[in-house]
Amino acid sequence: MGPEVRALGEDDLRASHALFLRSLLVEPAKDAEWEVLARSYQPGRTFGAYLDGTLAGTAMTWGSTLRVPGGADLPTGMLTRVGVRADFRRRGLLTALMRATLADSVERGEVFSTLHASEPVIYGRYGYGVATRAPRVAVRTGVPFAPTAPAGGRVRFIERDEAVAVLPDLYARVGRSRPGSLARPAQWWPVAIERPSDDLRFIIHAGPDGDDGFAVFSTVDESANGPRLDALNLIGADDNAVAGLWRFLLSIDLAAEVSVWARPPDELVRALFTDPRAVTDETLNDDLWLRVVDVPRALAERTWAAPVVIKVNDPLLPDNTGVYSVSESGVRRGPAEPDVEVDADVLARLYLGTWSATALSAVGRLRARSPEAAARADRAFRLPRPAWCGTYF
Ligand SMILES: CC(C)(COP(=O)(O)OP(=O)(O)OC[C@H]1O[C@@H](n2cnc3c(N)ncnc32)[C@H](O)[C@@H]1OP(=O)(O)O)[C@@H](O)C(=O)NCCC(=O)NCCS
Repeated sequence: MGPEVRALGEDDLRASHALFLRSLLVEPAKDAEWEVLARSYQPGRTFGAYLDGTLAGTAMTWGSTLRVPGGADLPTGMLTRVGVRADFRRRGLLTALMRATLADSVERGEVFSTLHASEPVIYGRYGYGVATRAPRVAVRTGVPFAPTAPAGGRVRFIERDEAVAVLPDLYARVGRSRPGSLARPAQWWPVAIERPSDDLRFIIHAGPDGDDGFAVFSTVDESANGPRLDALNLIGADDNAVAGLWRFLLSIDLAAEVSVWARPPDELVRALFTDPRAVTDETLNDDLWLRVVDVPRALAERTWAAPVVIKVNDPLLPDNTGVYSVSESGVRRGPAEPDVEVDADVLARLYLGTWSATALSAVGRLRARSPEAAARADRAFRLPRPAWCGTYF
């Protein structure tokens, strides 16, 4: 008999978490850590895969919303804590878990499923594609700012208790301007900022209209030149707030470098200095992986820059398979000659404008009727500013 997947109850969560950590070769959480982690689950959204009566695989989701081009926030699952016991690998447990979590998403009326991949070659087969990119950006301290760089406002430290109280609302207010951004569920926050093992510092930026940005960082000693500040989050309502937070972090005495994880591809820090070599992009990683669970709704609720006809093939969620004519005035499903034909993972790559249909066609990932048809798809999906997620899970 194949694996059986069940939603886990509260009593099984610690075992599920230990299984996940073990699969990443990490020790299970100690009691103090677990006290925080126990608050990071949403009921009914953690799954166990059983084989021969043994809990041997697990995955969980949070319910969220994803901002799509045009500004709508659509119901979305955030899939995480995926792991299979090393002695049960390659026996179909992950596939069973992926089918179960996608079926759960469909049942909940979610339009997307999202994840961050530690094993990036695996998820394409389930219809996930890299939908945003986000480099880690590092800046040397002591480099003069360009004279025109925004001055920023006032920055103050807050303690962890205050961060727990104020950051969720501040993020919801100032952190959601881009397509690709995710609402952060209440259960996401404890893992991010309350774990006793993390020594985090919190700063708030205040602009002319009050608090409008924040950063969360820690100090590491890995840089060859001296201590480095590593920020997990640097979120500002506007360019002034983002510049103000960068300025403050770069002004902290003794730090040799400031490195901020997962910045937008058009991060403004690159333009803040007269010396362009002050800034290095350490990686241009895959950021958010997207799975379009409800294709008709996903296409209908985003805005389009130009018309295009798309044929979608989705054997895993066959209700999505079809031909969609999209334009500024809406979406029509039904017979039409497609400009481009895509599988679900490639639709996910295109959806937030991160990839070019022309480039994907050149490597055979997308079938285009002609170069002009691929260019039409490029125009249709394109966004004025790159999409960005910036929320890790
Ligand atoms: C990655 C992992 C979840 C796969 O679980 P699994 O139960 O062995 O996967 P399945 O047996 O269901 O295999 C699913 C498919 O992915 C492929 N696959 C699985 N792991 C793979 C890997 N590391 N590299 C390449 N392909 C892989 C399988 O060959 C199979 O392909 P097929 O559908 O063409 O037959 C498991 O190996 C694991 O827990 N790894 C460590 C933790 C981890 O990486 N978690 C992922 C966090 S994002």
